[in-house]
Amino acid sequence: MKNNIQKIVTIDGPSGVGKSTISRRVAANLSFTYLDTGAMYRAVGYKLQKNDVDLGDESAVQQCLDTIALQLLPAATENDEVSVILDDHDISLAIRSPQMSMMASKVSAIPAVREKLTRMQQEIGEKGCIVAEGRDTGTVVFPGASWKFYLDADPEERMRRRAAQLRLAGEEVDEDELLQMIIKRDHDDQNRTIAPLCKASDAVIIDTSRLSIDEVVQVMHSSIEV
Ligand code: DC
Repeated sequence: MKNNIQKIVTIDGPSGVGKSTISRRVAANLSFTYLDTGAMYRAVGYKLQKNDVDLGDESAVQQCLDTIALQLLPAATENDEVSVILDDHDISLAIRSPQMSMMASKVSAIPAVREKLTRMQQEIGEKGCIVAEGRDTGTVVFPGASWKFYLDADPEERMRRRAAQLRLAGEEVDEDELLQMIIKRDHDDQNRTIAPLCKASDAVIIDTSRLSIDEVVQVMHSSIEV
């Protein structure tokens, strides 16, 4: 029997593998808090871009980080993204564009950004009962998590899923461009020096290319015993 502090599920993997939907579903089933670490990188990217901060200027980046007030609020239903409040403004929608995905990936390679957000994520996870989703949650943020998963899928399948989501939100999609963005983001996230996207040696690896969301959730619950 695990105590609450040990009750952490980590779900890592590249973009478009269904991590968010699956993580929210698993968190709701377990009555755990869902921690969307990607939303935090997106919010920091948003702020640095909005303030026109030179990403190569360490002290300017640090100053921006020192004054950041970031809040993640639970979504209304398990089908919605978390609400993200930055310096009293709701930026939940603004951070979800493909451009902001690239910006988040870019700023996530900056050591000061990773240090700050990793610390914030570990504080949120201190009491346990968390489902954390991201790129390094099982390897760096919560290396002692009880249940670790790494989701993967073909880039083409991930592009199709992301395109469907964007179209649902009323956006026009150039599939070739989207696929190139996904491949570049995978490459950058996997090859950065600090906390790159990689499989934790003790993670359960699930290829979601030909599985439905329900099937993936089922596989995960079969190895989570709270
Ligand atoms: O999960 P997402 O698409 O919202 O993440 C956006 C970017 O943030 C992703 O390309 C890399 C970065 N990220 C990260 O470096 N570490 C995490 N734990 C989560 C996201």
